[in-house]
Amino acid sequence: SSIPLLPPSSLPLSPPIFTQDDFKKAAAYKAVEFVHSGMVLGLGTGSTAKHAVDRIAELLRLGKLKDIVGIPTSKKTHDQAVSLGIPLSDLDSHPVIDLAIDGADEVDPHLNLVKGRGGSLLREKMVECVCKKFIVIVDESKLVEFIGASGLAMPVEVVPYCWKFTAVRLQNLFEESGCIAKLRTVGGKDGEEPYVTDNENYIVDLYFKKDIGDLKIASDRILRLAGVVEHGMFLDMATTVIIAGESGMTIKNK
Ligand code: 5RP
Repeated sequence: SSIPLLPPSSLPLSPPIFTQDDFKKAAAYKAVEFVHSGMVLGLGTGSTAKHAVDRIAELLRLGKLKDIVGIPTSKKTHDQAVSLGIPLSDLDSHPVIDLAIDGADEVDPHLNLVKGRGGSLLREKMVECVCKKFIVIVDESKLVEFIGASGLAMPVEVVPYCWKFTAVRLQNLFEESGCIAKLRTVGGKDGEEPYVTDNENYIVDLYFKKDIGDLKIASDRILRLAGVVEHGMFLDMATTVIIAGESGMTIKNK
């Protein structure tokens, strides 16, 4: 179903010009409509998820939501939620989560995702694989025909110890797909300081020239490499994807 972003009564005379951030916010606000009082919530990371956290805090302030417990997926989201007064906990105390809301870097037609270009993939996956409902919020630029199709990074979190060795092994795994493995750096340029995750690990970004084939097989091959902590393919995890774009809002359910 496609929902226009503005109700007909508020259509201005000239067509509205929406920014990408407006679409992210629209998707985030829609997702927060699924939040109810008393829920344990997975709080995502990134510029889209940030809008959802803002909105949850606003509804708490207004008294429209009560007794929410948030489980943040990064230090950045933790700090945002604390600054907004959202009560927080962790997976040790709340091993089951009612609903998680998070952005994504790629969404394929089967609702498989690439996440982690913001660097938080490990905590995101730990939280989002134990939630009863996982709503992904994206603007339409994130939609791809198949994972890896964008030519952009597929992140893999690795331990710092001999990361070059791990990067070469990752690249060799996907030689037939023309894979290039690159260490993520703070400024994005080769030779700079490595980017360090919230878990004190590094990220090796994989770039593919061709389709990587069966995603489940690719996932298993990556996870079998010693030195790999987690990868950014979130397969069969999203229960709902909310997409906002020029044509309105679309909600896809698994
Ligand atoms: C962070 C993520 C983000 O959800 C993803 O990068 C999307 O970010 P944004 O909403 O800023 O486009 O996976 O690790």
